[in-house]
Amino acid sequence: MDFNQSADENLFDRARIIGKPHKRIDGALKVTGTAPYAYERNDVVENHLVGYPLGASIAKGRITRMDAAAARNAEGVAAVITALDIDELPRADSNVAKLFGGDLVEHYHQAIAVVVAETLEQARAATSLIEVEYEETPGEFDLDDAWKRLQDRDVINEVGDVDAAFERAEVSIDEIYHTASQSHAMMEPHASIADWCDGKHLTLWTSNQMIAWSKKALATTLELDEADIRLESPFVGGGFGGKLWLRADAVLAALGSRETGRPVKVALPRPFIFNNATHRSGTVQRLRIAANKDGRITAFDHSAISHTLPGGSGEDAVNQTRCFYAGENRRVAHHAIDMNLPEAADMRAPGEASGLAVLEIAMDEMAEKLGLDPVEFRILNDTQVNPEEPHKRYSDRHFVECLQKGSEAFGWRERNKVPGSRREGQWLIGQGVAGAYRGAITMDSGARVRLSQGKLVVETDMTDIGTGSYTIIAQTVAETMGVTMDEVEVRLGNSAYPVSSGSGGQFGAASSTAGVYAACLALQEEIGKRLSIESPRFENGRVVSGDQDLGLFEIEGEELVGEDTLHFGDFQDEIELGTFGAHFVEVAVNAYTGETRLRRMLSVCDAGRILNPITARSQVLGGMVMSIGAALSESLSIDTARGFFANHDLAGYEIAVHADIPEQEVIFLDTLDGASTPLKAKGVGELGICGGAAAVANAMYNATGIRLRDYPLTLDRML
Ligand code: MOS
Repeated sequence: MDFNQSADENLFDRARIIGKPHKRIDGALKVTGTAPYAYERNDVVENHLVGYPLGASIAKGRITRMDAAAARNAEGVAAVITALDIDELPRADSNVAKLFGGDLVEHYHQAIAVVVAETLEQARAATSLIEVEYEETPGEFDLDDAWKRLQDRDVINEVGDVDAAFERAEVSIDEIYHTASQSHAMMEPHASIADWCDGKHLTLWTSNQMIAWSKKALATTLELDEADIRLESPFVGGGFGGKLWLRADAVLAALGSRETGRPVKVALPRPFIFNNATHRSGTVQRLRIAANKDGRITAFDHSAISHTLPGGSGEDAVNQTRCFYAGENRRVAHHAIDMNLPEAADMRAPGEASGLAVLEIAMDEMAEKLGLDPVEFRILNDTQVNPEEPHKRYSDRHFVECLQKGSEAFGWRERNKVPGSRREGQWLIGQGVAGAYRGAITMDSGARVRLSQGKLVVETDMTDIGTGSYTIIAQTVAETMGVTMDEVEVRLGNSAYPVSSGSGGQFGAASSTAGVYAACLALQEEIGKRLSIESPRFENGRVVSGDQDLGLFEIEGEELVGEDTLHFGDFQDEIELGTFGAHFVEVAVNAYTGETRLRRMLSVCDAGRILNPITARSQVLGGMVMSIGAALSESLSIDTARGFFANHDLAGYEIAVHADIPEQEVIFLDTLDGASTPLKAKGVGELGICGGAAAVANAMYNATGIRLRDYPLTLDRML
């Protein structure tokens, strides 16, 4: 099915199930510990061995010698495969860092050996018996050095005359900001069980957001036909972008299985993940904003650098500055610096999370300089068109309403106007606001729906990374086919099913439900043909047409199947699709120690039809928590001499948790975006993290009068 124009205005206007709060249909499996996660697939895998990885202890160079004889002779060890035993594996397009093989070391904790043994303890103990010698070469590990060195940055786009606008500017700012490198720190580590016993057919039970991409990457890396690979990833314990790609766990498990002729499971140990897998790159950003005295922005000039392994793309922190606010003149420049740290790649809202953390502080600074309320200043500079290409209108943008509704609900009017002027005992109290923006990408998505034994069974390779995919897909089938939620069975995360959008870039919910909707229409057509009736209606479990009225599950004969892929048409290139929001934060900063405590946070979101307010709310709450972590504590500390992230466990890498945030609230605007999908939905999974960090920074400024521009905003920076 092609989606080529705005959705049918009346479609699901009076939805029964879509848009209503439904508890997760997979909830019971999860809370009882019976949801099958990759590492625990003892139900399908027998007689497996356990693999344990060894990582390089240098950041750059070559391995000159490896001696694994003692490890091979250790108790319980079935096999040891070292990087020197095999040639470098071919790299899939989606893998910048190499995953295994050959003597070249490109980053710290690159996998250089795997020990396969009867037990985890035996495998782990034997890795310590492997002797490795290296020839180390100097690397680049310091982003600030690069910033100083690199004067010219690649201009991505410029409209108007930015330099002239700054010369004429009545009010302007020009500041440098830093955001930290961050780790996904998902609860479930990267984990896989591989059965490649015959060296030809590979079955992989894994934890991955994108089944089709990973199958392709596996085929390239292991030089297999895609047809000989089967991937299952029905439950994913958090991804955040870290599981978009094939990682070392899958490759090491596969190699171990081929070598031993038995299934092998590998989970990347937590202290290994931080340097072995991907992370969000830190950034250095310079932002200049110019405005007239009346508060209208005349120019933006935003340049940023991030780091990447050679061949990668880094964190593009300037993207939102191109389109979020009005202003005739704008220039954005970005440069990804080749550095020899582990692979930088996508993490929840890649780009905007780091970009808005900075842009929204700068907007606060501008508002103050202009003597305007920061909410009013943002409203004044709203746009309904893409300011770079004004012929492109936003299909549905309610940023102003987010700010207004949020101000009202939060009690923004009572905020103290003079920074540092509200004190309760030893605590300084402040409030801050920030805008949120994230694109609304759509991706073609397929599904298959079968009418089978009193159920509608839907199959798609879509994943549920904790987001609620199972539930919203069941809602889509129930709504479209006129049945109850109980009559739908959802099967996900299997490469035997039709290729979906997968989960990423907050495109999963909107795209995958569109694909499921298309498959339901295909099934309806099949049913019409079987019954030889024209345009049947599907309601209350019945198929109705003219004077025909038949129970859906009473249709006789062969099983009925509908399969389709929803293709999103080019018309979306000619409009702007986005999601918008506003965050409001109240903090208390200790007047003596500088410690910041969150008191409350409210986020208002404008993201089209909210398919399920319970699961969507959880998504936004999670994003908000992550933005608070980004503001206050999350930072991979780079050892700039040796080139690795020094804090590589959950004790040293501090994420925000529920106890850090006593009160969180989410408000959804009731909007429908017919240009986005047939269901008029957009994603919301990343919107919550966009801008939240700046709202915290702005609240801290309001509390103390101290403006911090370098994340994380730890208490030592308050001094
Ligand atoms: Mo997201 S960072 O595309 O999983």
